[in-house]
Amino acid sequence: MDRMMGSGDASRFSKAAARLIERLAEGGVLDGAASGTAGRARGDPLGRRSPIDLRPLPPVRSASLQDYREIVDRACEAFNTWRSVPAPKRGEIVRQIGDVLRRHKGELAEVVSVEVGKTQTEAEGEVQEMIDMADFAVGLSRMLYGLTMPSERPGHRIYEQWHPLGPVGVITAFNFPLAVWAWNALIALVCGDTVVWKPSSKAALSAVAAMRLIWPVLERNRLPDGVLNLVVGSGPSIGEAMARDQRIPLVSATGSVPMGRQVAVAVGARLGRTLLELGGNNGVIVSPNADLELTVRAVVFGAIGTAGQRCTSIRRVLVHADLFDRFFASLARSYQQIRIGNPLEEEIHMGPLIDVQAVKAMQAALGHLKAQGGKILYGGQVLSGGIFDAGTYVTPCIAEARADLPILKTETFAPILYLIRFRTLGEAVAALNSVPQGLSSAIFTNHVVEAEEFLSVRGSDCGIANVNTGTSGAEIGGAFGGEKDTGGGREAGSDAWKAYMRRQTVTINWSRRMPLAQGIEFYPG
Ligand code: UN1
Repeated sequence: MDRMMGSGDASRFSKAAARLIERLAEGGVLDGAASGTAGRARGDPLGRRSPIDLRPLPPVRSASLQDYREIVDRACEAFNTWRSVPAPKRGEIVRQIGDVLRRHKGELAEVVSVEVGKTQTEAEGEVQEMIDMADFAVGLSRMLYGLTMPSERPGHRIYEQWHPLGPVGVITAFNFPLAVWAWNALIALVCGDTVVWKPSSKAALSAVAAMRLIWPVLERNRLPDGVLNLVVGSGPSIGEAMARDQRIPLVSATGSVPMGRQVAVAVGARLGRTLLELGGNNGVIVSPNADLELTVRAVVFGAIGTAGQRCTSIRRVLVHADLFDRFFASLARSYQQIRIGNPLEEEIHMGPLIDVQAVKAMQAALGHLKAQGGKILYGGQVLSGGIFDAGTYVTPCIAEARADLPILKTETFAPILYLIRFRTLGEAVAALNSVPQGLSSAIFTNHVVEAEEFLSVRGSDCGIANVNTGTSGAEIGGAFGGEKDTGGGREAGSDAWKAYMRRQTVTINWSRRMPLAQGIEFYPG
C-alpha cells in the first residue's frame, strides 16, 4: 500500500525537541513529582515507548505516596499565598504562561506527537488549545462576577462573592495530555486555587515538558513552590490517594467511566466535589436534507482524527435509509485517501493508536460486532511491514450495525465508525440517545425544522449538540462536558469557572434597625 508511509528512524525528535528533552532531563531521569523547584520523585521509573515505532522514550520517575503527601502539603501552603494575590494579578501570571506556550508551541507539540502518536497538526492544535485557554483565563481574571439581589428588607444589601477553593486535583488522560490540564489549571489559577496534576502514565513526558516550561514563570514572579504541582503515578495509587484526600476540595477527572465512578464514590464519601469528563459515544444524524459533501468531510475528521481516540470522536452515524448507499460510497472514497503512517510527517492524516493493547481492544470490538450481527464494510485491519511492525497501526473501519447492538453502547477508543439506517427523525433521535454516554452529538441538515427539533427538549440529550459540524474539535469558549455516564462536569469556557470557587452569599444591614426576613416579628423583653 503505497499511500502508507514508513521510515527507519520514525520517532526521532527534531533538533529543537531533542534539546528540550535534554534540557528537561538535565542528564538524568526526568522527575515526575515536583512543585516547581522543590521535590524529587522517589517512585518507579516509567519506561514508555513511542507508539510510532516502539523506540524507548526518556524514562520519567513516578511519584511515591510519600512524594504525593509532601506535594499536597506544599500545594496547601502555597494556596495561602496564591489566594491573596488579586485575581487580575493572577491573570497576569497566566498571561506569561500563555507567552511561554506560544514560544515553545512547536517543540511541545512534537513531544506530544512522539509520546502519544498524534499528527503534528493535531498536536499543534492541542498546544494552541492551551494558549487559547490562557487568553480566556486572563480575561476571566477580571470577570469573576457575583450577582447582587434586591433585599426585601429596607437598608439591606445582598450579594454573592466567589472565593478560591483550595488545591484542586486534576487527573488527565493520554489522548489530550496537555489541553485538558489547561482547561482546568489555567481557570483554577485565576480563581486563586493551586493545582495538583496527575497526568496519564502514558503521557507523563508531555506533562513534565509542559511543567518544566511553565515553572520558571512562577519562579520569576517570586511565587512559592506548590502553586502548580505534578504527581506522575505508576498505577492507580496516586489517583486513589487524591480521591480520598480531605485536603483536595475538588477533583477534576477525565478518563474512563469506571475510573470516574471510583473517583466519584471516594470523593463523594468525604463530601468533596468532583468534576467528571468521562466516556463519550457520539452520534450524528445525516438527514436527506444534508449537504453530503460537507457531511462526509466532517464525519471523516470526526471518526479518524486522533485515530478515533478523542472522547468526542464520531462513533455512530445515523443515516437516512434513502441516502445510505450514496453516503457510504462517498465516505469510503474519502477513507481511501487517508494516509496512515508516521505522525511527524506532514502529509500523514492518521498515526498509530496509543499502544498494542488499544489495537487488541479494537480487534475485540470488531469481533463482538460480527458476533452480534454487524458487518464490516471497510478497513479494520492491523497493518504490518516497515514502521507498521510496531503493531500500533490500523486501517480505520466503517461498519454497518443496528442501533441496539450491545457493542454500540460501549466506547472503543479506536477508529471504528458504525453506520445505522433510519427512516424518521424521531427514530434517529431515539437511537442517538439510546446509549449510556451523553457527551457530543450533531445533525447534518439544511432543514431548519429538523435542526430545531434536534436541538429541542425532545432532541439530543448530550452536553454538546451541533448542526452541520462534527462532534469533535470544540472551541474552548463554550462549556465542555456531557450528561449521563459522561459524568455531568463542565470545563473550559462559559461559566465553568464556578466549579473552581466557593460561593458566599452576603447580607449587609446598614439600616440601623433589625428587621427580620419573611415578616417575622420577634421582640424579647
Ligand atoms: C477529549 O477527547 O478528552 O472537542 C477532549 C474536542 C477537543 C477536546 C477533546 N477540543 O475534540
